[in-house]
Amino acid sequence: MTFLQAPIRAFFAILESALDRIFGAKFNPLYHLGALGFFMYWVVAVTGIYIYIFFDTGITEAYDSVEYMTHDQWYLAGVMRSFHRYASDAMVLFMVIHIFREFAMDRYRGARWFTWVTGTPVMILIFASGITGYWLVWDELAQFIAVRSAEWLDWLPIFGTAIAANFLTPDALDDRFFTLMIFIHIAAPLILLFILWIHLQRVSNAVTNPPRALAVGMMVAMLVLSLVKPAVSHGPADLGTVVSVLDLDWFYLGMYPLLDYWSSGTVWATLGVLLLILLLLPWLPPMRRAAPALVTLDQCNGCTRCQADCPYAAITMVPRTDGLKFDLQAEVNPDKCVSCGICAGACPTATPFRRRADLVAGIDLPDSSIADLRDRIHAAADLLGGKTRILVMSCQHAARTDDLVGPEATAVKVPCIGAIPPSFIDYMLSEGLADGVMLSGCSEGECYNRFGGHWTKARLEGTRDPNLRKRVPRERIGTFWGNKMQGGGLRREIERFAGSLADLPKPPLPDRSGPPPAPSRSKEASDA
Ligand code: HEM
Ligand code: SF4
Ligand code: SF4
Repeated sequence: MTFLQAPIRAFFAILESALDRIFGAKFNPLYHLGALGFFMYWVVAVTGIYIYIFFDTGITEAYDSVEYMTHDQWYLAGVMRSFHRYASDAMVLFMVIHIFREFAMDRYRGARWFTWVTGTPVMILIFASGITGYWLVWDELAQFIAVRSAEWLDWLPIFGTAIAANFLTPDALDDRFFTLMIFIHIAAPLILLFILWIHLQRVSNAVTNPPRALAVGMMVAMLVLSLVKPAVSHGPADLGTVVSVLDLDWFYLGMYPLLDYWSSGTVWATLGVLLLILLLLPWLPPMRRAAPALVTLDQCNGCTRCQADCPYAAITMVPRTDGLKFDLQAEVNPDKCVSCGICAGACPTATPFRRRADLVAGIDLPDSSIADLRDRIHAAADLLGGKTRILVMSCQHAARTDDLVGPEATAVKVPCIGAIPPSFIDYMLSEGLADGVMLSGCSEGECYNRFGGHWTKARLEGTRDPNLRKRVPRERIGTFWGNKMQGGGLRREIERFAGSLADLPKPPLPDRSGPPPAPSRSKEASDA
């Protein structure tokens, strides 16, 4: 899949950088696609309830009632109708970009399969609701969709009588069939809401509301669109005629022209195969699954920090099982863990100021442990020797640092920037391993592991435990937030940082006589 993901990822990286410049990272719509999808859902729901007040549910009355809204009450019901349509379109747009982006960023396999797979029915329900919505207007477009859909559905051997027969003569379509369409149009979004709730079960603190400015911007854009190009109907449906030229809504109806060229069976087969590929994607090669986080019980004091910081609801606090004096202990659900290491970054026992044998954290990644991180930091520090020595702690999903090895700056890769306990920054500077530490994480608005950047900033600012000790000189810490394509930006920031470090007095070298102290676990918890 990498051959597909790489170009899409590169495309998104360029787009993200461009939109960062226009909107700023905080309001970049690409970083709020799921939340924007939810927002559009609510706009569709509220406007749908409003226009339903005016809608006449009879097959012969429906068209006139929609015309009344569009022309006689254009200033309110008409605008509501346009909002209903444009918000529905926007929901599809945001959903499709959301799917491509999660795919390109490789956020769909391993433990994330659940969120991916539960997204699939969401997609089907959105289309079911949108397509049946177009039937309700009962204009020529509705007639076209109804006849084509019926012929298409008739190919499936599940309906007793042919549905297409309903549309053969001008008076064959009955009110009951029309009522069924209304039912689907309303029931599908309700089921959708329930499935969206399931979709987010493995995402803790899911962001379901976009920033207010972005929401207001979307509303203004839809209002302008509604006034400039209001949603209108085609001519009334007439089953006695064959409909030809139509203004299709490609967001929902893009598949219909295919039915003119392909047989119903071919269209079913194509959609079925695409759906199957989508569902199986998390299990297609290359399979990559790092080992989940492990709790070492005799190091865990039940402080709950790892649970609070885990972005994937993979940790629960359970009653103590080993008789230690603490009430709780952390427990990892390996099926939910994406191996981001943020929990280790949060654990007060993950401190490098401990002897080698003691460096076992309460919670840690077997493939990228805290002890291993300390060793790699020492190895990287040994390569430094320039005028200003910078250790770059680099998230593997952020700006590329593969060739960042040299006497001035050397990078150490971590699974997520949030996987670095703040005590490590203290350690690197107070042990004289570097003159400065640069933290390089994902773009400001979008962390690959959702909260890595967010928690790191809060820990540095001292607003979230474990926070960086006050004694650590802040002017020796740099940060850079960017995507994989922004390696150049990171290098420029390192140069600027090196310049600022050169102006600072050299820090005193640590006293290395004797081994570093091994603080007791309870002291570490209060120090970290
Ligand atoms: C309109 C429909 C959808 C909405 C409103 C929606 C909403 C969301 C939201 C709010 C999140 C959490 C974002 C966060 O807080 O980090 C999310 C995550 C996710 N969604 Fe959707 N989603 C939709 C459709 C889909 C579909 C169709 C798929 C795939 C087939 C999908 C795949 C995913 C994945 C893989 C994640 C997890 C990303 C991660 O692990 O960080 N979503 N979605
Ligand atoms: S590594 Fe830790 S923080 Fe990340 S998902 Fe697993 S348990 Fe949660
Ligand atoms: S952060 Fe560490 S000490 Fe605290 S509950 Fe989690 S594993 Fe235990």
